[in-house]
Amino acid sequence: MNRLHHWHPVALPREVRQQPYPFRLDGHEFVLFRTERGLFGAMPRACAHRRADLALGKVRGEELICGYHGWGFQPTGEIRSPGNPSLTQRADCLEVSERHGALWVRAKNAQTAFPQLDFEGFSPIGVFHHRVAAPLQLVLDNFVEVEHTSFVHALLGYAAADLASVEVAMSTGEDWVRVINQGPQRKLPLPLRSALGIGATDTFVDDWTTYFSPVYSVYDHYWLSPEGARRENTLRTVVFFNPIDEQNCELWSFAGASSRLLEKPLFHYGLRGLLRLSLELEIRLDRRQVESLADKDTSMRGMKLGRFDKVMWETRTRVASIYGLPEGG
Ligand code: FES
Ligand SMILES: [Fe+2]
Repeated sequence: MNRLHHWHPVALPREVRQQPYPFRLDGHEFVLFRTERGLFGAMPRACAHRRADLALGKVRGEELICGYHGWGFQPTGEIRSPGNPSLTQRADCLEVSERHGALWVRAKNAQTAFPQLDFEGFSPIGVFHHRVAAPLQLVLDNFVEVEHTSFVHALLGYAAADLASVEVAMSTGEDWVRVINQGPQRKLPLPLRSALGIGATDTFVDDWTTYFSPVYSVYDHYWLSPEGARRENTLRTVVFFNPIDEQNCELWSFAGASSRLLEKPLFHYGLRGLLRLSLELEIRLDRRQVESLADKDTSMRGMKLGRFDKVMWETRTRVASIYGLPEGG
């Protein structure tokens, strides 16, 4: 299947205003636009007529007008040309959907289901995207393994001294891979710990499932008291891994927290800001690490792997068979 047949988040609604918004996905260039009535359209960035750059065009009424010969494109792909009134050509537009605070696209008439984003009972923390100058495969390898959290991350994850005692349980299905890690919570700044209701000797559970149509992981972070009771608060982050081209990936993170404190107006903005900053910090730290590997062979051949790495093989084979990217070894 063509990778563009899967839904991918590509822009925040506020990023698409009067000007056409160019974006890249799976090696192709596209442009998104918003008509005056508020409909969104997406199509190849090269004009269907003679390939002028539609990002330099203008929205007038319900059409995106190309700056070269004035052909007008509607979100449905219909074309109106002032100089060719009987024109019957259509542009190859994408389907656009606004959901969960983002704009998503997929190939027109594709039959794929919309990915699962279940935030019922969660207060939103935010939607953010980060470009990583490394292939999707390497970025995903990082996001499905917990060993690096002791050395790369500042907050989320396990202390290096506790890593040997972290239990890792993997389960797989035809189109999903789940990993549950459990181990002692590392030291956290007191404001964060008390905001999340975490005790100093709690167990931190890092539980995620990866899906492959498109490629995304749903992360639940929660805590167990020393008696084994689950604490009230959970952080949920859903991360999409968009292939921009062979050498670049874009991470789209949708984050929420179930916390009574978030419902209290006094705490809402402060805590939401703190959680958002913490997540973005970790993503930036991961990005720095992964980009430093970007010029290396992505193949698993010859790697000497440990117990945390088993999941890489499972995710890579499903990325190849379901999503259509080479598994890289
Ligand atoms: S190239 Fe766009 S209208 Fe001619
Ligand atoms: Fe990480």
